[in-house]
Amino acid sequence: MNGKICSIVGARPQFIKAAAVGRELRRRFAEVLIHTGQHYDESMSSVFFEELEIPPPDYNLDIRSGPHGRQTGAMLGALEEVLIGERPDLVLIYGDTNSTLAGALAAAKLHLPIAHVEAGLRSFNREMPEEINRILADEISTLLFCPTATAVDNLRREGVTSGVFLTGDVMLDALMRYREKPSGGPALLQSLNLNPGGYRLLTIHRAGNTDSVSNLGSLLAALGESGTPIVFPVHPRTRGRISEAGLAVAKNIRCIDPVGYLEMLFLERNADLILTDSGGIQKEAYIFGVPCVTLREETEWVETVAAGWNTLAGTAPETILSALLRSRPKSERPKIFGSGTSSALITDILLDFLARGSA
Ligand code: UD1
Ligand code: UDP
Repeated sequence: MNGKICSIVGARPQFIKAAAVGRELRRRFAEVLIHTGQHYDESMSSVFFEELEIPPPDYNLDIRSGPHGRQTGAMLGALEEVLIGERPDLVLIYGDTNSTLAGALAAAKLHLPIAHVEAGLRSFNREMPEEINRILADEISTLLFCPTATAVDNLRREGVTSGVFLTGDVMLDALMRYREKPSGGPALLQSLNLNPGGYRLLTIHRAGNTDSVSNLGSLLAALGESGTPIVFPVHPRTRGRISEAGLAVAKNIRCIDPVGYLEMLFLERNADLILTDSGGIQKEAYIFGVPCVTLREETEWVETVAAGWNTLAGTAPETILSALLRSRPKSERPKIFGSGTSSALITDILLDFLARGSA
């Protein structure tokens, strides 16, 4: 083996990214997988390990939910202990969650090199917790793996040029690997009495949409008015808010539990349109060629908007309803996210870095 890498994950999209990267990584390095426990429900965590055949984590810190400071602080302390014991050659972090920031800080304080998968993304909205997490993580990372050319430009504008690599997006690797695997998707659609192409798919989980009852209420009201069947796998955070606030959900919106990745890919590919505030789902919609309406004021994935396949609708009922009336885009979809070989490229860069001891 060529060295030891500690990979830190904790939230749903990180399991998917780590499934793709880990598969390549483990051929060349000893990987120690650390799960912070930020997500812990079966449908938010273990389902991904099973479906994507990710080895069980070497450590599960079981930190669970809490206010940002407490959650991030608890992860920091626990991660530090593990990293001191493991003494890895490098720490690999993914995305922009509190697990990402805690992992970056714990590693930096121990003077361990950090590699950040999905570096350089910016929404330019510092009210998003993710924006703070990614700016800070990028600032202290040694290797910055950018999924898009825009991400490289963002870093350059911040004066970060050393250790920056345009690798493409590891979520494309995952999607290409898992898209053909049989899933419970067809049975799920049947149980909802829906046919492929005969529904829209909805996800909502961003703090900006769930923490404001008025935003969440107006969003659900607008989608209720649209009348078309909508399949809504509900994130536990959103389910909590809907029930605490006693918000009404119209009958055309079919709330279901969060689904596994294979089922989600099936639901996405077969949707007539996708409505989401998720980063990952905007990308998957684009890759599958399903029009996307993004329920936010801005996006990190600006290329999907420029290509005409993603519409930024915010949360105002008028803008959402008018976005739903837009006709299906006819434009080409340039290959924004690379060619599905990002994980291998990242592994090669890591090999080179650890062999030379510098970026
Ligand atoms: C987190 C990330 C977000 C990412 C998302 C992916 C941060 C700040 N946010 O948001 O960037 O897009 O994950 O899904 O890191 N909960 C459960 N069971 C679980 C997990 C969460 O019930 O297994 C509930 C808890 O009430 C918790 C709430 O969801 O307080 C929010 O969970 P948390 O991990 O803090 O943030 P997410 O909204 O999931
Ligand atoms: N996803 C899933 N089941 C669901 C909802 C999402 O498997 O019920 C997958 C989705 O296909 C994508 C990833 O989770 O690959 C996106 O995660 P999420 O929306 O939670 O976070 P974000 O990408 O916004 O950080």
